[in-house]
Order: sequence, then structure tokens, then C-alpha cells
Amino acid sequence: MATDSSHTNGDSNANNQIAQDYDLSQPITSKSGLRSGLTSYGDAHFSLFLRKVFIKALGYSDSALSSPIIGIINTYSSFNPCHSNVPQLIDSVKRGVLASGGLPVDFPTISIHESFSSPTSMYLRNLMAMDTEEMIRAQPVDAVVMIGGCDKTVPAQLMGGISANKPVVPLITGPMMPGSVEGVRVGACTDCRSYWAKFRAGDVDVEDIMSVNEELAPTGGTCGVMGTASTMACITAGLGLLELRGGATAAAVSSARLRVAEQAGRNAVAMLKRDNVKPQDLLTRESFLNAITVLQAIGGSTNAVVHLMATINRHPQVAGTIDLKTIDEIGRKTPLLVDLKPSGDNYMTDFHNAGGMLALLHTLRPLLHLNARTLTGQTLGELLDNTPFKSFAHSRQIIRSLDDPLYPQSSLVVLNGNICPDGAVMKASASKNRKLLHHQGTACVFENSADMAKRIDSPDLDVTENSILVLKSIGPVGNPGMPEAGLIPIPQKLGRQGVTDMLRISDGRMSGTAGGTIILHISPESADLESVFGIVQTGDKIVCDVEKRVLSLEVDQQEISRRVAARKERAQGSTGNSGAQPEQWLERNGRRGYRGLYEREVNQAHLGCDFGFLTAQGPTPGPSEDRQ
Ligand code: FES
Repeated sequence: MATDSSHTNGDSNANNQIAQDYDLSQPITSKSGLRSGLTSYGDAHFSLFLRKVFIKALGYSDSALSSPIIGIINTYSSFNPCHSNVPQLIDSVKRGVLASGGLPVDFPTISIHESFSSPTSMYLRNLMAMDTEEMIRAQPVDAVVMIGGCDKTVPAQLMGGISANKPVVPLITGPMMPGSVEGVRVGACTDCRSYWAKFRAGDVDVEDIMSVNEELAPTGGTCGVMGTASTMACITAGLGLLELRGGATAAAVSSARLRVAEQAGRNAVAMLKRDNVKPQDLLTRESFLNAITVLQAIGGSTNAVVHLMATINRHPQVAGTIDLKTIDEIGRKTPLLVDLKPSGDNYMTDFHNAGGMLALLHTLRPLLHLNARTLTGQTLGELLDNTPFKSFAHSRQIIRSLDDPLYPQSSLVVLNGNICPDGAVMKASASKNRKLLHHQGTACVFENSADMAKRIDSPDLDVTENSILVLKSIGPVGNPGMPEAGLIPIPQKLGRQGVTDMLRISDGRMSGTAGGTIILHISPESADLESVFGIVQTGDKIVCDVEKRVLSLEVDQQEISRRVAARKERAQGSTGNSGAQPEQWLERNGRRGYRGLYEREVNQAHLGCDFGFLTAQGPTPGPSEDRQ
């Protein structure tokens, strides 16, 4: 990228460039800014001429259009309160870009909010990743600031940004402020769930639950605990892509957040001028190992495991070098340090005030790969050397030291066994009854969400507090988008006896803001006709030993094989003339539209639930190729 230190030289370069645009005897050689990625009309000069015609309708001059163009992804939506500050952030980014000599141009992509996406936001994450990748590729931008925040938006942008491979700077919308109920601080969404559980158990009446509803999200911004959104923000900082002071943690409604946005604009231009560094060059295996260390140290959302695997598998040099075992191995060396809900007691604003990611990365320094590069051009080690942080008493209450952790190690664990040969994930640090981390009991099985809704609160349900609740058919294909239904509610009759936690197992996900002893992401999912999880029956014995990382179905192999064969026969028979509803797994090949694409191409949770054809390796055996 050519740069000019003097305004006069800049003008003369721009004039030369403009003259060349109309020199039909010479090809258009510049591949930057407005001259990059020309639309195909068979005449490049005409394509550029036409492009200028249209963009001038917006009032731009030839001179302005000769600057490096910094795209800004606008994910504002009136259905996305987590992104309510995006218009102000865009203004601030533009200020930073202009002050650094770039031309800011914002453009939209889809925006996804958890509560306004049916069937789930996860179902749309890959669509947003495709939208992000293709719009970055298609439009004449030299670098891009990607504004995201709500759970699936940041991973979608990381996935799309890595695949598009132009210089990208993530910008997080920031967490909301906590609210207050009778003098007690509350915030979405850990407290949403705990108050709802109290309401279900009859401990909170209807008037109180209605007033709580007013306070749980008192400002715009992402959920104010260590849910998926906050986790993804911290991971992005761990990757070296955010400002350490506030990039992940400054509140959405704070002036600090606006300054972070202005700096993001400056950073985008600086990256371009410095070395035009692209994400596939900037991010290395060490960057992702650091991100996993951060994930474990913050007791992050289990959803982030899926998103990280999807992001890693977008990177041609890193894909295949990190798997679920790597996440577990790093967990064994990494204590939980950050005291935030749902693993701890506090809110994101407390984390920010305690020093946020700057303080955490200084604390984690002995566990990090300090040679990983950051968007500043410095390695992580150099950046930390140049950005000191002095710990103080309040800081140490929220961000513990390595020798005084909140939980000694492995806040997130990966389990294996015959029921989950490709893995399952649990946030052990969020268990409310640690005895359940080593537990065996009989399965109480729900075949799908509708079955669960029908029977979970029945007084006749054959269940005790030692039972293991099993919910099937909420995996990537079984219930498209793998809903956050893994937090199976405690059956009402047990809740009324004071039971607050049970061992629960599913092939679905759980909100990062939720807690309990819950095993998720069973892979392969139950909808897969080969899945052992798919043939678990009520009354079967299941053993969970978190220390040994084992989850197994105590049914002999012959009986397992018999059940799998019988299930396949039943399912295949149902696609014939029996008139019965065929299983989801078999039905997916005949579906139209995005749902058909999703069900045919989505890979399993341990790979990230990406579409096989979007991964760095290209199409991989997924549900589109039955493993016969
Ligand atoms: Fe957007 Fe929680 S709903 S971050």
C-alpha cells in the first residue's frame, strides 16, 4: 500500500491515479481501494468508470476515493438490542479512520440476536459468516472493521474474516450494565434463568417475576455476565485482535467504548499502512492456544468451544492442529481466575473495572505463547511489556492470581466414551453440586424437546434426584441449529423438594450464562442413525467420571449393536409406504432453501458445526454422507 507523508504528494499521487483511470492504453494496475475487485463487464476501465458514477451519487470526490478504503460492517438491527450502540460506534470508527488518512465506508450484513432468531441463532451463524466473507470479498475495501457483539455475531465475523483474508479489525459492541432488584444487582442472563427457576418452583410470585423482567437488561449491550458474547470478546482479545484496555470489556454505553471504536478505525488504517497484514498471516496456532487459555481462565461459555473449533478450521495453516483434546489439555494447566457469573458472582463491568483483559493477560503471562503476534504489530509479549498493569486489591478479588484461583483447573472439560466417541463438553466450574462430577445413575430419557415439555413436570415421571436426565434430538441436524436447550429443567416435583442440580446430558448446547452439572455437544448427535447416544433408553445405567474424562453407557456392546440396527431399520422403513414420519436424518436430503443447505452440510459439534464446504479443508464427510 503506497502511503504519503505530505498532503501535497498525496494530492499529486491521487491526480496521477485518476489520470490513469482514463488511460485506455494501459491496464488498471492498482488493486487497492475503489480499483479493487471490479465488477465484470468485460471492460475494466468501464467497470471503474461506472463504479465512480454510482459512488459519486453519495457525494464522494475523486480525491477522497483515492484513499485507502476501510469498510465498517454495520450490524445494527432494531431486533438486536445487544447492538443498539452500533450507529455511535460507526461514527467513532469513522473519526479514527479519517484522522489516519483512510476513507471509511460502512455497509450492512445480517445481524443475529439470541431471542429473535428462530429456530436458533446458531442456525444462522454460518449464514452470517458467509455474508461477512462474501461482502468483504466482493466490495472494494482494503481493510474492514467488523462490529459484532451478540453471541453468534463475533464468531461468524471471525470465521468470515479469516476466510476472506483481507486485513480485519474486530470491534465488540460491549456488555450491558447490571440492573437492580430490591437492592440486589441482576443481569442478563444468568439471573434470568435463576429467577425463572425460582418462579417455576413457586418461590417467586407472578408480580415479582414481572418486575424482575423490567430490570434484567437495563441498558443496550451484550449480556453482562461471562456468557457466550463476553467469552467471545475475551477470546478475541486473547487472539491479539482487540485493544487490551477495554476492547473486550468496556460497557456498551460508556465513553470508553466509543474511544475503543475510534482506535479500531485508527488500527485498521495502521495495519494497512504497516504491512497489510491479513488474518491468515497474523493468526497462528499459538494465537489460538492463547485464546483457549483465556477461555479456560475465564470459565467461558461452552458455546465458545464450538465457535473456536469452527474458527480454527477456517484457517488453512491451523486447521487440524487443534482439536477438543487440545482444549482439555490446556484446561488441565489453566486455573479459573475470573470471578464472574455463572461460575462466580460478578458482572462484566466489575471485570472491566478490575483491569479486564489487560490484567488477566498479565496474570496469565507464564501460560501464554508470548511470541504470538497482535494487531498492533507487536508480539503479545512486547505488547504486555509496553502496557503495564499494576494490580490493586479490588482487581485481585475479581481476577485472582495463579496461586489463589477460583477453581484449580479445567473449568471446561472434554469427555469421551462409547456414548460420545467424538467428544462431549462440560463446564465443570459451573456445577452446583460437585458430587455429580463423579456420578452414576439411571437414565430418564426424553426423545426430543416436545417429549420433554410434555412429561418433565408430570407428577408420574419416574425420576429421582440421582437420575440422569437425557435429552436427545437437539443436535446440529436433529433440531436444526442445536438449540440451547441443554439446561434441562429440574422436574417440578424435585424442584419443589429443593433439588437445584442434577446430571443432565444432551447433544444440544446451553447458554453461556447458564449453570449446573450439564454435559453438552454429544458427538455424534442422536439424529445420526449410527449414534450410540441415539439408542439410550430410560433405565439404562450411565457413568460419568469427570476426573477420568469418561462418560459411558453401561450396556453391553451386543445390545448396543442390536438397538442401533433396529433403529436404522425402523427409520428406513418409515421412509417407505408406511405413512410414518421419516427421521430428520433421512429427511434432510429432500429439503429446499437454507434449511436444506444447513442440514445437508453442517458438520458435528466437535468440528464446529460449520458447513464442510466452508472449512479450510473444503467439503468433509458430514451428515451429507451417511456413514454406512
Ligand atoms: Fe445478545 Fe446475550 S442476547 S449477548
